[in-house]
Amino acid sequence: MKITVVGTGYVGLVVGACLAETGNDVICADVDQGKVDGLKKNVLPIYEPGLEEYVERNQAAGRLVFTTDVPSAIRDAEVIFIAVGTPPDEDGSADLKHVLAVADSIGKHAAREVVVVTKSTVPVGTAEKVAAAIRPHATVPFHMSSNPEFLKEGAALDDFMKPDRVVVGVETEFARERMAELYAPFVRTGKPIIFMDIPSAEMTKYAANAMLATRISFMNEIANLCEKVGANVDLVRKGIGSDSRIGPAFLFPGPGYGGSCFPKDVKALVRTSEERGAPMGVLKAVEDANEKQKHRLFQKITEVFGGQLKGRRIALWGLAFKANTDDMRESPALVLIEELLTAGATVVAHDPAAMHETRRRIGDAIGYAKTSYEAAQGADAMVVVTDWNEYRFPDFARLKSVLKQPVVVDGRNLYDPTKMESLGFTYRSIGRGRA
Ligand code: UDX
Repeated sequence: MKITVVGTGYVGLVVGACLAETGNDVICADVDQGKVDGLKKNVLPIYEPGLEEYVERNQAAGRLVFTTDVPSAIRDAEVIFIAVGTPPDEDGSADLKHVLAVADSIGKHAAREVVVVTKSTVPVGTAEKVAAAIRPHATVPFHMSSNPEFLKEGAALDDFMKPDRVVVGVETEFARERMAELYAPFVRTGKPIIFMDIPSAEMTKYAANAMLATRISFMNEIANLCEKVGANVDLVRKGIGSDSRIGPAFLFPGPGYGGSCFPKDVKALVRTSEERGAPMGVLKAVEDANEKQKHRLFQKITEVFGGQLKGRRIALWGLAFKANTDDMRESPALVLIEELLTAGATVVAHDPAAMHETRRRIGDAIGYAKTSYEAAQGADAMVVVTDWNEYRFPDFARLKSVLKQPVVVDGRNLYDPTKMESLGFTYRSIGRGRA
């Protein structure tokens, strides 16, 4: 099929590369000349394991083409994915100006019957607005579809190639058939394509992310309570996660959720719920709990040092909002760094992927170390912020020998509290009794 993806951000690139991988002719269009020039040379604007190989392979095979010429990319397409950014407005609602600009181009330039798919996470009602923007100029029939994306950063290719399910909102049989054909290679294992009406598809994306964010905030509050009552949240997590109604995933307490989706989508859904007169009090509480959680690591460090952080050197292991990404958007590390610096501490960080992005944001306000041990060298405490695999099994003897004081504050519960105490560390983690 001839596919056009407009927007070469995170979602657009993954969709384009994966649809090319299954033999479609894909044009990825973006107005950003620099980005497109880079992509033509297989230089990706984001870090995602495996994506570079996909782009390179499919570009070399001629199935994947990058261009800034949006009108010509639209002209001959059978399916057009709109995957441009929807940054939050000041009030938290998604800004649709880029989406509607693409719609306007589709109306003006589409030259054959086409399915127009909203792929960016957009509020309920957006497909209708897109259709309204296309209609006045349209010279060919078009069919709307909403096809939300459930990709996780760091596992995006797998998520796309082997999805749990594909959700597709459609209004016409034409759109349904096209989308079924397009996704057939990805659901051969029997996973479902769930067809539904468009508002339900749009709502599904928000409901999924809001539910997951709710689980995390819930577990973070349970963890904080565990500390007060002397319980161990890891055991509580296993205890409840083995109930098939609850399930084991997304029950890990930590320094608060971050990233480009959860914070933005929860905010947007709170906003929509208020606007539509069905306010979601649950989600407001989820947001509040997450804001509080982002301060927990600082509180723990402060407690260890009796409130005296001036002149202390603190090592951070991890900066990205989660492992396997260089994404710093809404990362709890940024909140922690600001608090530490304000308290007069110096910060030296290590991250396998996100140091470049952190420096772009906050410059040399902190030090950047080549290795995790170099970051810990001479530090009064080491703080685990991100759950990178390489931090899971450190050489504790080496760590202890390079630290000035054997203090470890573990925001991801990577280590065993009993073992850490027996090795002579002062160890704090999330929701495991006093530790
Ligand atoms: C999320 C959704 O999972 C994905 O379906 C959607 O398309 C986009 O948003 P992503 O933001 O890439 O994906 O990351 P995810 O792995 O879901 O983690 C989100 C945040 O929650 C991270 O900050 C992570 O550290 C945190 N988290 C996750 C926890 O604190 N505990 C958990 O148990 C799981």
